[in-house]
Amino acid sequence: MLPDDGLAEVAVVGRSNVGKSSLLNALVGRRQVARTSQTPGKTRALNFYRVEASPAKAAPARAFYLVDLPGYGYAKVARTQRAAWQRLADRYLAERGAGGGPLAAVCLLIDSRHEAQPADLALLDRLRDSPAPFILALTKSDKLSSNQRQQRVAVLRRRLATDGLEAPIVLTSAEKKEGMEELWDWVATFAVNS
Ligand code: GTP
Ligand code: MG
Repeated sequence: MLPDDGLAEVAVVGRSNVGKSSLLNALVGRRQVARTSQTPGKTRALNFYRVEASPAKAAPARAFYLVDLPGYGYAKVARTQRAAWQRLADRYLAERGAGGGPLAAVCLLIDSRHEAQPADLALLDRLRDSPAPFILALTKSDKLSSNQRQQRVAVLRRRLATDGLEAPIVLTSAEKKEGMEELWDWVATFAVNS
């Protein structure tokens, strides 16, 4: 059952093992609310986390949901199981993201260690057709040198521009808590202004 309390939702999507649940934990605070694992395929359902943010300084906080989705692509489980999770995530995006739906923004995670993979590009393509704005978060930035970081961001920025897309790009590391404030600001801005 999905919530029907009218609160906005910001969904975290991306390939299996890209670091969705870890990033969500880091965003929400120290508590390990979302389950993470070395093994792709950890998140098997839609998980809603209620959080709050203020639209402006001294304004009352507004509640919204961060939604942790199962990953796309590779996972060490049967193909049918993988397809079922993917359908779950697809249906979530289609239904909640339709005009007037609660989806205020999508946070698309891409592993900063690799070029964007076919599954990443397929997701990007989907988001282009969705009314909800999106934020690109590059994950696991702690694995890169500062040169590599700037290069990854530049490559993605060019790709977005080529595709006529516009989105904030944030370098993040859930492990080192890099980019958390910047990402939170974008997430909160979309959520409370939706
Ligand atoms: P699924 O739910 O299976 O789709 O995976 P997920 O995208 O939720 O990934 P998860 O958060 O479970 O993390 C997958 C692996 O990446 C774990 O081994 C994490 O420890 C690791 N990881 C996540 N974030 C970071 C990070 O910022 N830096 C590094 N070095 N590793 C990370
Ligand atoms: Mg997960």
